[in-house]
Amino acid sequence: MPEPSNIKATITIENGPTLELPVYQGTLGPDVVDISNLTANGRFTFDPGFVSTASCESQITFIDGGKGVLLHRGYPIEQLAKHSSHLEACYLLIYGELPTAAEKEEFEATIARHTMVHEQLRTFYSGFRRDAHPMAILCGVVGALSAFYHDSLDVSDEKHREIAAFRLIAKMPTLAAMSYKFSIGQPFMYPRNDLSYAENFLHMMFGNPCEDYKVNPVLASAMDKIFLLHADHEQNASTSAVRLTGSSGANPFACIAAGIAALWGPSHGGANEAVLEMLEEIGDESRIDEFVARAKDKEDPFRLMGFGHRVYKNFDPRAKVMKETADEVLKELGLDDDPLLKIAKRLEKIALEDNYFVEKKLYPNVDFYSGIILKAIGIPTSMFTVIFAVGRTVGWIAHWHEMHSAPFKIGRPRQLYNGHKQRDYVPTDKR
Ligand code: SDX
Repeated sequence: MPEPSNIKATITIENGPTLELPVYQGTLGPDVVDISNLTANGRFTFDPGFVSTASCESQITFIDGGKGVLLHRGYPIEQLAKHSSHLEACYLLIYGELPTAAEKEEFEATIARHTMVHEQLRTFYSGFRRDAHPMAILCGVVGALSAFYHDSLDVSDEKHREIAAFRLIAKMPTLAAMSYKFSIGQPFMYPRNDLSYAENFLHMMFGNPCEDYKVNPVLASAMDKIFLLHADHEQNASTSAVRLTGSSGANPFACIAAGIAALWGPSHGGANEAVLEMLEEIGDESRIDEFVARAKDKEDPFRLMGFGHRVYKNFDPRAKVMKETADEVLKELGLDDDPLLKIAKRLEKIALEDNYFVEKKLYPNVDFYSGIILKAIGIPTSMFTVIFAVGRTVGWIAHWHEMHSAPFKIGRPRQLYNGHKQRDYVPTDKR
């Protein structure tokens, strides 16, 4: 538990007690008021969507939404995107420090040696229809991993947690590529230990047994950046789902499957797929004003996918890097005048100038440009959230591991009940 600060908070409830509540100060970010002893005084707090609630203390990632700051173990995301790699960021997120050259080499070799999956898992895929959504397949297959690894399911054993982390980080690209290959009726490609993490993923996605596949280094670099930019984002919906699932002592594979399920929604990780669908629905720059008007219309449920964020009320720093990467990839592939990119850039310009979006601080988020990059690389829209899940796996695992590294309680929120008061059962013939 954090040390109380000298700052005090008191709550006076009419006809009830005046409570003095401890206030904790982090190294960065807002102070937090500890309300945990409210229940002993017969009260709960009410905070749907946890807009004002800190669910835990953590040292992994810090976001300043007002300034557009994202730090992983203190390092700005812009610097990590420029100088680091996804696997180096994985090491940083899990162990808390950047690796030495020797540590980095050992970690990369360890991950490479865990990229293959049990041959029996291949038959698991054949139980799905060919047109199954890859996220449905990923949910099922990752949850099923616990059936294969009985040697690493003791969540109280740090070594078991570490091997589970290695396996999940290493196997997610393999499982993701397998769900793509299954959907197009092509044979699964085995991972190769001589390729980097992102190169291996592209090889398993687009290679085939009939010819050598040459990985385009610009695309591999963009892919690695996409994994890195999605690696972690403090207590977002899917990470909170992983922590809550893990708080019951569930095994790591079940927890990551819960994170994948939470990520799937269009308000969260499903937004990158929804962005492309939206750009394709707009279809032409002449229709942008029509969709912007719909996004502003309270009666219309349509929202501009890829805009807005619960925490960022400034530019999402990841979106800036993603935009530069999109330009690099489209230039490399000779797609500079991609019509969807033109619509996206025009949409972004309007949203950054239009009062509605400016007042509500709706800036492009990480999902706005990632879909354009993935589409340019040749990855189908249905695989976009899968790519997000591959990148975010290390964040989920780092938070799960952090939770298990200190005393914790099972997560069990309460409620404001406004249903029926107690009443007696009514026999059928009296209803
Ligand atoms: C991710 O939490 C994370 O960190 C998530 C993430 C991560 O890395 O894990 O960053 C990844 O999920 C990014 C967000 C991807 N989702 C989208 O792009 C979907 C579109 N965005 C919205 O659905 C929305 O902005 C949310 C869900 C992202 C945030 O919603 P909030 O914080 O609950 O805000 P809200 O829904 O209360 O909206 C505030 C106002 C509302 O208007 P009023 O009721 O105040 O009049 O802004 C409006 C909303 O109607 N609004 C939008 C809008 N987003 C919010 N209006 C039009 N288009 C939008 N995109």
